[in-house]
Amino acid sequence: MADLILNKTDMEVHPPRLYPDYKSTILRAPTKPLVLLKPSLSEYTGPVFGDMAMREFDNDLTMNGRKNGEPLGERIVVHGKVMDRNGNPIPHTLIEVWQANSAGRYVHKVDQHNAPLDPNFLGTGRCLTDAEGNYKFYTVKPGAYPWGNHYNAWRPNHIHFSLFGGDITSRLVTQMYFPGDPLLQHDPIYLGVPPKGRDLLIGKFDLELTEPSFALGYRFDIVLRGHSATPFENL
Ligand SMILES: [Fe+2]
Repeated sequence: MADLILNKTDMEVHPPRLYPDYKSTILRAPTKPLVLLKPSLSEYTGPVFGDMAMREFDNDLTMNGRKNGEPLGERIVVHGKVMDRNGNPIPHTLIEVWQANSAGRYVHKVDQHNAPLDPNFLGTGRCLTDAEGNYKFYTVKPGAYPWGNHYNAWRPNHIHFSLFGGDITSRLVTQMYFPGDPLLQHDPIYLGVPPKGRDLLIGKFDLELTEPSFALGYRFDIVLRGHSATPFENL
């Protein structure tokens, strides 16, 4: 629990609860001092997802939503390692991802963006890190999409990540961005992260991970705590 209390170092990396340019934070940021609650039993004994709970294509978003063909878009594979502050791997961590399709549209009733749905793409997946803390997802590169934060607001390409596991007392949520995206410098969610933490949110293109004639490879390592901690949205 102590790790969930932000110290000065954390504030240099993680986004503040209130960042007025990102308008939703005005509504959800607490206006009174936080009250710390003693952790309940459920926080120590959250759901444990065994390997058997995973299905064959849970980590392959190019397969798990197929109806009559392949999803459209640039096929990518995202590798990474989940680590603690000392670089030690965190095995058996549940990672869930969700994203827009290559046209920038989510399969969700509240998403009314005038872009096509892809009948062969759901945009959700999950996997467990292995004994070395590694994970891997196949998917297509998500498209940018508009949102209502301000006039002509567009979200950069991104994949949402959620982490849950034995070393995590509360679900951790973050986003992976893509290198060189011109929208990053206009995105208040990304800019709401202190400068020191922003680069940690950008997946790195990696030719070694790229699968010839199949998928571009990106690396996105996730560090739970410490100076190199990945910025999370819900601390
Ligand atoms: Fe999104």
